[in-house]
Amino acid sequence: MVAREVCSGIFWVGAIDWDRRLFDELIPLPNGTSYNSYLIRGSEKTALIDTVDPTKEYELISNLVRQGVERIDYVIVNHAEQDHSGSLPMILEFFPDAVVVTNEKCRDLLVALLHVPSERIKVVIDRETLSLGDRTLEFLLTPWTHWPETQVTFLREDRILFSCDLFGSHSASSDLFMQDERATYLSAKRYYAEIMMPFRGNIRGHLEKVRALPVAMIAPSHGPIYRNPAFILDAYADWTSDAVKNEVVIPYISMHGSTLKMVEQLTEALMVRGITVKPFNLARTDVGELAVSLVDTATVVIATPTVLFGPHPQVVYATYLANLLKPKMRFASVIGSYGWGGKAVEGIVKLLDHVKVEVLEPVIVKGLPDEASMRGLDRLADDILKKHKEINIV
Ligand code: FEO
Repeated sequence: MVAREVCSGIFWVGAIDWDRRLFDELIPLPNGTSYNSYLIRGSEKTALIDTVDPTKEYELISNLVRQGVERIDYVIVNHAEQDHSGSLPMILEFFPDAVVVTNEKCRDLLVALLHVPSERIKVVIDRETLSLGDRTLEFLLTPWTHWPETQVTFLREDRILFSCDLFGSHSASSDLFMQDERATYLSAKRYYAEIMMPFRGNIRGHLEKVRALPVAMIAPSHGPIYRNPAFILDAYADWTSDAVKNEVVIPYISMHGSTLKMVEQLTEALMVRGITVKPFNLARTDVGELAVSLVDTATVVIATPTVLFGPHPQVVYATYLANLLKPKMRFASVIGSYGWGGKAVEGIVKLLDHVKVEVLEPVIVKGLPDEASMRGLDRLADDILKKHKEINIV
């Protein structure tokens, strides 16, 4: 790994994790990720912003050594999750005079998660500043940009916002700055869906705080740096807004073809009504792709066969996950087929208790769908179109 210059006196000293394929043992990472750590040399003090995942601590130290760093005065911790803080104990050992700078909640988590000695932590409050001599760091508390202790750090003179998880993307790349807008947009949207979407309301407030700053560059702790902050700020404004699209997402499982037949019928019925449809076969789907589709969709129709006495476990998993992610969808329904019994609909609807949705009349059939069931799916497509018209998205 090599340290790279962000601008004069400021260096990326993090690590690129080309091979990582799963985050939190949950989130697929098709493009790997990076843990961005930044070194800021002031005229009097040197600061390190965030560290890296503990699996990459050798690379962080190696970058610092190659930069000739003999002293770190402050380690700014924007977030206590271990992909950014996990190398902190090693850094504190290597630089015995370094002081950790973070907010009170983050201090408590660093002590609990990593046993960082509390006497080495300086607690700051919202809008507090720290001088590095010719450079000034300003801390802004932004709770729930993943965890409750999250903060961002603004380097006033250089107008760089170090935003940690916020505005990040899981992407391993040799490019320090965003090069491919489309690829970054998709990667950042996926990251938003998986990490930030449950905190949409909080993030909207934080966006206003960030927009009030004269930010020239946004340097997150995953993925590329944005030299055009409006690119990612505008995207976040769109994703966190209440606006939904004329879309229906259909996560489904079919064991013997009956539920699939219903999904195909509903997909066609929605298409002829001018509605965008995104079916996801959960037996093959990358849940990250499903999460992205939930960012904008107005409606979700969950399609499941019955296994023993309830919905298929894969469908339960996807519905549970969707409920955790709290998308802004407005309508939901359930379709599916059963053989000899079960209560698939009740089981699924109960799992959506965090999402404020109007449930449209489900279509559940015994065995192979017949003509009447197909007409039931046409009726559901009509209901969805009517609802989409009522909220003016058609
Ligand atoms: Fe990238 Fe919430 O850690």
